Amino acid sequence: MTIDISAKVGTVELKSPVIAASGVWPYSEEFWSGEKLDGVGAICTKAISLAPRRGNRGIRLWETQAGVLNSIGLQNTGVKKFIENYSELVKNCPVPVIANVVMEAVWDTQETLRMLDGVEGIAAAELNISCPNADGDGMAWGMTCASAAKAAAAARKIWNRPLWVKMTPQTPDPAAVARAVEAEGADALVCSNTWLGAAIDMASGKPVFDRVVAGLSGPAVFPLALRVVWQAAGAVKIPVIGCGGVRSASDCAGMMLAGASAVEAGSAFFADVNAGKAICAGLPEYITRYGKKRLSDIVGLARE
Ligand SMILES: Cc1cc2nc3c(=O)[nH]c(=O)nc-3n(C[C@H](O)[C@H](O)[C@H](O)COP(=O)(O)O)c2cc1C
Repeated sequence: MTIDISAKVGTVELKSPVIAASGVWPYSEEFWSGEKLDGVGAICTKAISLAPRRGNRGIRLWETQAGVLNSIGLQNTGVKKFIENYSELVKNCPVPVIANVVMEAVWDTQETLRMLDGVEGIAAAELNISCPNADGDGMAWGMTCASAAKAAAAARKIWNRPLWVKMTPQTPDPAAVARAVEAEGADALVCSNTWLGAAIDMASGKPVFDRVVAGLSGPAVFPLALRVVWQAAGAVKIPVIGCGGVRSASDCAGMMLAGASAVEAGSAFFADVNAGKAICAGLPEYITRYGKKRLSDIVGLARE
């Protein structure tokens, strides 16, 4: 029996449901074509902001027992250099490319999107609303319904291609934020980004990170992310993408049973570039287990 593991996020069609999450897929030609892409449904770019960002000082990555803390600080070349350096990679990439855009001040983000609009081959923009609200109170854009809606509306005004909004898991009410973003015309939700954590370096007795807090990802956050997927998928009609700790076929299928149309994996790819291939190889078992032939048929099955 042939089992179909393709996935769809609105109009974006994926051969595999496993998308490389932002920040982990290298910008080198060998990773953007050929066998390295086996099992990779789409690639999210590293963060793109209007101006270049140098990122955070000090230690940037710290392994924990069940995941990794990162304090990269959205380091990137800025949109102008992104276009100069990577337009060809994007245009020729055989899988959809998702441009991960930093939600900065409204004008800055709109300008970034305006510039990206000229890049052929970007299948969707993924608006990262986990960043501090530069026009407001400094809290992450995604924390409240009002600021999340403002961010989504600002992007929607400029961007005519699919708009995915990547939520922050720190919000106390993911369902309400999901609804607010949907109401402003977002085409999909990514649930979600990293979780705030911290670490003490036991050798020095001091915080590991200069900023003390950092983003936790990896297996530790899987049940937390699954909960956000469940809440968001129950609140909106647009597709939801599960993101957080996915590293096996069981994790991927679990996210989809909870209502996700696809998944993003970050830490898993960071640890092993072939993670997508391994996840895909295990998926048919989880599809046939529930008497189905297509991966899309298990989306939301746990809710019925
Ligand atoms: C090293 C690293 C860099 C990241 N950079 C970004 C980024 O630039 N933009 C973004 O939206 N998320 C970024 N993330 C978050 C991931 O895209 C993903 O949402 C998060 O790691 C949770 O998924 P995971 O548990 O599968 O890693 C980064 C994560 C890591 C580990």
